[in-house]
Amino acid sequence: MEKSERTELGMTPQAMRRLAARATEVLIDRIGGLDGGNAWDGEFRKVLEEQLGGPPPEGGRPAEAVLEQAVQDVLPYAARLDHPRFFGFVPSSPTWPGILADFLAAGFNINSCTWLVSSGTSQLELVVVDWMRAWIGYPETAGGLLTSGGSGASVEALVAAREAAEHPARPSVYMSDQCHSALQRAALIAGVRREHIRLVPSDDDFRMDMAELRQRVAEDRANGLQPVAVCANAGSASTGAIDPLGAMADFCAGEGVWLHADAAYGGFALVTADGRECLDGIERADSVGLDAHKWFFQPYEAGALLVRKAEHLENAFAIGHDVLQDTVWGANHPNFADRGQQLSRAARALKIWMSVQTFGMAKFRAAIQNGLDLARRAAEYVESSSVLELMTPVSLSIVCFRVNPDPAGGSCDEAALEKVNRVVLARVFWDELAFFSSTSLKGVFSLRMCIMNHTTTWEDVHRTLDLVEQIGQDTLAEQ
Ligand SMILES: Cc1ncc(COP(=O)(O)O)c(C=O)c1O
Repeated sequence: MEKSERTELGMTPQAMRRLAARATEVLIDRIGGLDGGNAWDGEFRKVLEEQLGGPPPEGGRPAEAVLEQAVQDVLPYAARLDHPRFFGFVPSSPTWPGILADFLAAGFNINSCTWLVSSGTSQLELVVVDWMRAWIGYPETAGGLLTSGGSGASVEALVAAREAAEHPARPSVYMSDQCHSALQRAALIAGVRREHIRLVPSDDDFRMDMAELRQRVAEDRANGLQPVAVCANAGSASTGAIDPLGAMADFCAGEGVWLHADAAYGGFALVTADGRECLDGIERADSVGLDAHKWFFQPYEAGALLVRKAEHLENAFAIGHDVLQDTVWGANHPNFADRGQQLSRAARALKIWMSVQTFGMAKFRAAIQNGLDLARRAAEYVESSSVLELMTPVSLSIVCFRVNPDPAGGSCDEAALEKVNRVVLARVFWDELAFFSSTSLKGVFSLRMCIMNHTTTWEDVHRTLDLVEQIGQDTLAEQ
């Protein structure tokens, strides 16, 4: 075939270098400029459609121009989840070695599906999963895999639980009303009917109410349902609440039901002494889901699922396939594709491994402790304010609070307070100093800060709370 007849999707080394250098420069400028810019930017669809819509071009255009358009018209329209004053939802602040690891893994075109296809990253996955095993306090018989995130880990956990229970015909799953929606979705995917997913009322501290759990499981058994799993919050996304893990483990052991701990948000607090104490009992769960793209400073996607008995995953997921028959290397050479839902898989272990190797655990521990400490200080600030009310005890790094002219708790008009706080949230948003979001505490509107960025300082938290207080006072004065 003549060269001119070939399709050609390659680039010259010079063009590759130029483009990569420009991308690197853009990223370094972005990261360096985060503190000086807004914590959020976004645009309406109509505007973006005008800029970005249209059919694919038949002929290409210069790669530099395409890159610049992505940098100008696409990428900036996003929450800056790694901004030091981004406190909304669950922030994420990846380290540079982690970011480069994703670039390298894409460039090396790694598919971490089987040992044969990528032994290097499979070995790394064994290594980082084993680090997590030790942080949880699991025995050496535990094992796991890296997943897309907490949602992926929840699906795999509940499928494994269902299989361990021998795939009953009428399965039911239990979780508190504070559990993440990802767990309900996972239960649905695992084949549990919507009406058999029990959202058990939580207690006044937003923790699983054990009496309610016991009652529901007993009622369901009496009605012919087969409970397959109980899900525990090991740091709920709303308030950071941690369910009574020990009591839940006792209950599940007695019932012969799988206990899954959702530690997607809070799990990496385990590497600190404070976090370990808060999450005591997690090692008794049958499975634990963690998200390194949350409190372990990795780029998306970096979830993990660990199970106390490693074989449960392969029992649930391993399926032979003719076309993959050459990939079986034996027990010491696991094929991670046999432990979960994905065959083609990104090399997620590389980013975790490279960033931990670069900075060392002491720095990771200190960065996580920073979030715990800042949340406590933020709560103290709120408690000493004459217009802010702490709504829940601080748990891990989440602070729920609201503007209230009488925080000490006189009679209050909930509807009026909600109105004020919605206005405050909107005004803080448009002020652009910081970003935080709200939650609903059993129907009561609450502002919420989640503090877990390794670059966030007390100054960032303090300035944000000052602003809320100021805006709160102004808003109350207008009412
Ligand atoms: C407690 C908790 N569980 C599960 C999830 C879902 O995780 P992911 O978004 O990684 O799928 C989240 C996400 O914020 C979470 O906070």
